[in-house]
Amino acid sequence: MAKEIAAVITLFGGSGDLAQRKLYPALFGLYQRGVLKDHFAVIGTARRPWTDEYYRDIVKTAVAGDSIESTAQASAFASHFYYQSHDVTDAAHYITLKELAAQLDEKYAAGGNRLFYMAMAPNFFATIASHLKSEALLTATGFNRLIIEKPFGHDYASAKALNDSITATFDEKQIYRIDHYLGKEMAQSLLALRFGNPLLRTVWNKDYIQNIQITLAEAVGVEERAGYYETSGALRDMVQNHVMQLLAYLTMDEPAALTADAVHTVKARAFDQLHRYTEAEVATNFVRGQYTTATIDGEAIRGYRDEDGVAQDSMTETFVAGKITTTAPNFAGVPIYVRTGKRLTRKSTQLTVTFKPQANSLFGVTAADTLTIYVEPSQGFSLQLNGQKLGQTNVLAPAELAFRHDPAAAKSAPEAYERLINDVLHGDQTNFNHWNELAQTWRFVDVILAAWAKDKTMPTYAAGTMGPQAAKDLLARDGAEWFWQPTRIQMAD
Ligand code: BG6
Repeated sequence: MAKEIAAVITLFGGSGDLAQRKLYPALFGLYQRGVLKDHFAVIGTARRPWTDEYYRDIVKTAVAGDSIESTAQASAFASHFYYQSHDVTDAAHYITLKELAAQLDEKYAAGGNRLFYMAMAPNFFATIASHLKSEALLTATGFNRLIIEKPFGHDYASAKALNDSITATFDEKQIYRIDHYLGKEMAQSLLALRFGNPLLRTVWNKDYIQNIQITLAEAVGVEERAGYYETSGALRDMVQNHVMQLLAYLTMDEPAALTADAVHTVKARAFDQLHRYTEAEVATNFVRGQYTTATIDGEAIRGYRDEDGVAQDSMTETFVAGKITTTAPNFAGVPIYVRTGKRLTRKSTQLTVTFKPQANSLFGVTAADTLTIYVEPSQGFSLQLNGQKLGQTNVLAPAELAFRHDPAAAKSAPEAYERLINDVLHGDQTNFNHWNELAQTWRFVDVILAAWAKDKTMPTYAAGTMGPQAAKDLLARDGAEWFWQPTRIQMAD
């Protein structure tokens, strides 16, 4: 049985899309598992003037299932929710919030524990943090923790300014910077796979690994988020955070222990050791692209520049591919190819490690062994080895050993946000970004942004394809190719 955690949770952005799609279902999952039970309250804040009743209906709608039992449970859960209309710049509103939190703490016996969750437009994060301090919303008894959503800054300078402002109120041990990829089952199980298998542990280095590939492909376009995406682009939206975090998990040294400090130490070192490009090197090592119109399954798909809210001459990239290298002694010289984009062939996050083919006297140079980790939509991994062709002595043929989590079991396992909020409630920072990591990843990305700002060309790719030709050329130059090519390798979902 889960241990119940008491807390008053204040959610900035309570009326938002993220709250309704992800956060309320995640909190409900914790409620169903008994982590949140009798001793919690949620204060939702946003500008609009909602009543508690209206807010609770929103929460119920966000979490309710079909059964009578789950509807009743959703109502009981929603009764812990309170709404407070809030102007983030108005000091008086924080006093109201503080008093409401104190009342709810008493009503639910929350022991002074406070969780502040910033899930709204990032330009207000610093203002909120400074008011939490000036209006003294942190308690003297119990824990005070801050969850902060991405984007964490727009570049290194703005990320640092944001960090300075939140660390004026919270210390590093109280800050949980979210990267929801770190809450995903297969991202978390990379540690188990890498360090729990002597077989893999032994060959996980430059002597045996030929290259590493990280693909975060999305089939959707920019959807209704052009306002944000136009200021971001794929490099900031996906590479600086999710791609980099997966890269760290694949290349970092073995942590001394499975603790937050030990994991953060090796991750920060992995980022420190990345070869940081000069602007001149960017052109040969990074490729960007923008999707153009196409007809997919009879449906006309708009090009990026024709999407609502996108400028006709937009220079925002919807695709990035890059070759990254590291100076880490274990991985020096191993290319790490990464790619991500919108409107690619299909949704899939997968990581492939290709091992060096080794010549031997019996079979000559054999095909490369590969390990692929499927993060989404299927969850599992597969090892491609050389076997013998059926009935043909000493003729090699590829054979795949594949493992997939049972989709039904995977579905009922906690979703990324639920795992992450659970970690915060338990004070475990392992799956969150330490500032040192963000500082390094922004510095890495800033150079690419600066180089692109001076380059007026924008390669394109037809919606539904795997990016511009240049993304293939990037690997071809090294005599390599993208392991996953959806038209060639089909995957079981
Ligand atoms: C978010 C990005 O961080 O990740 C989105 O802002 C992207 O643009 C999303 O669609 C992808 O997440 P997932 O979990 O669906 O792979």
